[in-house]
Amino acid sequence: MGKELHMSKPFAVMAVAMTVSAVTGIITMIILYQIQITPLNPTPRPTPLPTTTLPTGPPPSMRLPGNLVPKSYQLYFQPHLYSSIDLSDVNATEQNLTFTGNSTVVFQCVQKTKSIFLHSNNLTLLELYVTNVDTKKIVPHLDYKEYDDGTHFLEVQMTDALTDGGNYSLFVAFQGEIQDDLSGMYVSTYNEDGLKKYVVATQLEPTDARKMFPCFDEPALKATFDVTIIHRLDTTALGNWDKKLDLKNIIDDEWKYTRFNPTKLMSTYLLAFAVSEFPFTSGDPTSRVDIKTYARKDAIEAGQADYAVGITGKLLKTYEEHFGINYVLPKLDQFVVPDHRAAAMENWGLIMYQESSMLYDKKKTSLLQKDWIADVVAHELAHQWFGNLVTMRWWNDVWLNEGFSSYMANRAVAQVEPDWNMKEILEMHQRQDAFEIDALNSSHPLSPPANQIQTTGEIGEMFSTITYLKGAAVLTMLAGYLTERVFDAGIKMYLKEFEFKNTETQDAVDEAHLSGINVTEMMNTWTKQIGFPVVTINTTEGEAYQKQFTLSPATEAGRVWHIPMRVMSKTSGPLPVVLNSDRPVHKDEFRSKKGEWILVNATGYFRVNYNPENWRRLLDQLEMDYTVIAVMERGQLIDDAFNLARAKLVNITLALNTTRFLQNDTEYLTWEVTIKNLNYFVDMFDRSIVYGPMQVYMRNLVCPLYTFFQNYTDNSSIPTDRSQQENQVNVINMACSNGLPACQKMARTMFRQWMNNETNNRINPNLRSAIYCQAVAAGGDKEWEFAWKMYKNATIDQERDLLTHALSCTNKIWLLSRLLEYTLDPEKIRKSDVLEIIAAVGSNAVGQSLAWNFLRSHWLVLRNDDRLGPSYVLKDLARRFSTEVELQELKQFQMAENAMESRLMNQAIEQTEANIQWVKENKQTVLNWFMANLSPGNTPHVCSPTQTQILISLTQAR
Ligand SMILES: *[C@@H]1O[C@H](CO)[C@@H](O)[C@H](O)[C@H]1NC(C)=O
Ligand SMILES: *[C@@H]1O[C@H](CO)[C@@H](O)[C@H](O)[C@H]1NC(C)=O
Ligand SMILES: *[C@@H]1O[C@H](CO)[C@@H](O)[C@H](O)[C@H]1NC(C)=O
Ligand SMILES: *[C@@H]1O[C@H](CO)[C@@H](O)[C@H](O)[C@H]1NC(C)=O
Ligand SMILES: [Zn+2]
Repeated sequence: MGKELHMSKPFAVMAVAMTVSAVTGIITMIILYQIQITPLNPTPRPTPLPTTTLPTGPPPSMRLPGNLVPKSYQLYFQPHLYSSIDLSDVNATEQNLTFTGNSTVVFQCVQKTKSIFLHSNNLTLLELYVTNVDTKKIVPHLDYKEYDDGTHFLEVQMTDALTDGGNYSLFVAFQGEIQDDLSGMYVSTYNEDGLKKYVVATQLEPTDARKMFPCFDEPALKATFDVTIIHRLDTTALGNWDKKLDLKNIIDDEWKYTRFNPTKLMSTYLLAFAVSEFPFTSGDPTSRVDIKTYARKDAIEAGQADYAVGITGKLLKTYEEHFGINYVLPKLDQFVVPDHRAAAMENWGLIMYQESSMLYDKKKTSLLQKDWIADVVAHELAHQWFGNLVTMRWWNDVWLNEGFSSYMANRAVAQVEPDWNMKEILEMHQRQDAFEIDALNSSHPLSPPANQIQTTGEIGEMFSTITYLKGAAVLTMLAGYLTERVFDAGIKMYLKEFEFKNTETQDAVDEAHLSGINVTEMMNTWTKQIGFPVVTINTTEGEAYQKQFTLSPATEAGRVWHIPMRVMSKTSGPLPVVLNSDRPVHKDEFRSKKGEWILVNATGYFRVNYNPENWRRLLDQLEMDYTVIAVMERGQLIDDAFNLARAKLVNITLALNTTRFLQNDTEYLTWEVTIKNLNYFVDMFDRSIVYGPMQVYMRNLVCPLYTFFQNYTDNSSIPTDRSQQENQVNVINMACSNGLPACQKMARTMFRQWMNNETNNRINPNLRSAIYCQAVAAGGDKEWEFAWKMYKNATIDQERDLLTHALSCTNKIWLLSRLLEYTLDPEKIRKSDVLEIIAAVGSNAVGQSLAWNFLRSHWLVLRNDDRLGPSYVLKDLARRFSTEVELQELKQFQMAENAMESRLMNQAIEQTEANIQWVKENKQTVLNWFMANLSPGNTPHVCSPTQTQILISLTQAR
């Protein structure tokens, strides 16, 4: 599934020569994997069925028993809805949200049984019978039973046992409701030409195929799918595979059918279809694969799909070359649904997208949105191999889908948009965002044991930050260690070996012995254990040791990782070292010889701490001449220092001291990391005495950089360099929110100009997010009312998202209350925006308790619309919780609402406890530090670029 990532920027990367490829003794390549697949026995059962008496009743676990292996499905679906309704016509037909259909699944019995177990959820079964495929005779059954215990099992009880090796088919005719909760077969609506329009789309991952038809709904039970859609004459139906050419496809004056060629072997969760009136934009007509992108007429006519269409073809080619396997189908449809649960869904041959993940309007959309679109498309296309062609055997290993796709997307985007220089920035974001979660005991391993992931709730929770981002970060580290060339060769073998099959992490990463390091062993330390290590280096002793990095005491001691790293000093390196001992290790590479600093590379999935002396040398270097240390390493030093301080491994003042050199630094990456870390201070202190001096420091720190961009900003223009474009936005937000008068005035003025002439918005699209929010924050009801009006009028998603966010930026409490009340009325706020608004209000100091109260009192209603969403919002709100009262409220809520997903709730409680402790321990020190550092870098109190910045801007001007 698509993901909720954030992206960013480039910079000069340190040229690090990886030396491992020079090591003789690469015996075979990596990644992969003995085949453990036997075609007839795909699902190992936790408990074997006894062979003597044939069991009745449900299997002993939530999993299918594995005694029946599906081969093929023949499916008919007929959604009865109308695609267009004139709401002003009193005689208009009532909308019909029913679907009917039937399915014939052919399966082989591999172990004698009297019961057929498969999945069915929320379907009315109209007719059901079993046939012996070999004799073509009906096989009598006694009865069938639907389980309402969360298994969604449908059990067909046979009169006589099905025999081992026999082939059977199960026919079921059914009826169901087209859902309005964005799962299963669902309806999505929009307005066009004064009419209300209806689209049918599907979202089956992970466990909702069973809402559409009775099926063996487990990813390892791959089958072929032969699908026919019966739909209204004025609509188009799309499916996974290409259409069969039928001359006679009109049924009557209302209906027609569209048949699709049977799919290759495929998991149930990848099935998809769509019915709509959408037009499309075609890709390159000379390409082997026919690429079409479908969206609302207005969006297609405005050319909003053009950017995505253009890169889709390029990305597909990149992957085909990279993987050495062609995309399997002759066509690829991308379908942009007005409402979609995830950013996108990778259904084979029919990828579905949210509008904001695909549509890009040259005039109205921030250039920065392109990053997101490219990343989402690259991620979904990578899934056509990682996930669709080769699939994890069970959901515990979904990182094999999501981690690989996220990792591949970084590289593919770098290839099709070489000027962006995004790869390292993406990698840094992935790593640091994963660290956040993985430092908590409530994290989970990339690959937990399969039997721990059973219920649909547990499966849903596997689609986590860890799965996507730690997965990608660990692969980035592995590829860095092996070299991309070696890594890529392994990937090719993996895909070839397992195409149309399923894998486990256990299958992964084998047979590579590099300089004595076993890659299987190495990878197991990263995939089976939760958490990650901090390496502590004593440069006087030349000693290094590892231990788990946690923000609260680790629940289990003694975790050890195999850590590949590169060690450098001002004059030497980088030198490769692997640390895999649980004891301190002495090595010459760790020793400072002539009083110089030692530094470890920043691209691994671990943090690094040093002795105080070495930290001092590094900080001195940064303040004297930061350019000696590459920007990635500068960023990681800041991030490590702040997080080591959170874990009480260094003083908080050391962390704050790492920000002082930024007075001179103009790089996006270093500022981005700093702002992220200082945001934790904002979250903890923005309702306390610390906030005053802290704002002064931040204002003074950012002041030169604000001035650096001022010529652009004041003219509503943007620099050409992409990283500086991102930087400019960050700087405006930081300067305005810390009360820099020039910034607040600029934001208000620009917003006023728009208010005075609402059809002519001259704010540069890149700057809109910052200016809207900061103008509403600095303004009053007038600004807010205007933003509200524009929210309602917004015709493109991105604009609506910016305004949603802006509405929550006000510091007027009554306006925030009003906004929250509006979320209860779908006519005012679209359902898909509700949770985001609550979260946004909660991240505003003024709105925090409002949002928390609102979430609690409307919990059940909100959960009804989106089962997991409110839990994520709650976890998000708890980020800022730092008082005993809030902790008690959380705990009471947990007791009252045991429906809450326990992992997220526990994360929220753990986070709150850590915050309380942190504030208690650091408040005074932090206050003192800010008081002593009101003006960083001892520069005078004027807001002008520093000498260094002037120099840099002069060199860039050339
Ligand atoms: C609705 O139907 C009724 C009865 O057929 C008819 O008299 C009336 O004119 C129709 N109204 C409209 C707006 O078409
Ligand atoms: C919707 O269509 C189904 C199938 O044709 C039919 O049974 C049902 O009565 C219809 N419902 C409405 C409200 O028209
Ligand atoms: C399944 O549904 C299709 C479409 O309505 C119909 O043509 C077909 O006869 C049905 N199959 C069976 C076995 O009833
Ligand atoms: C499906 O679920 C809805 C909502 O829970 C319920 O009203 C409906 O009766 C269910 N339908 C079937 C066929 O189980
Ligand atoms: Zn995905």
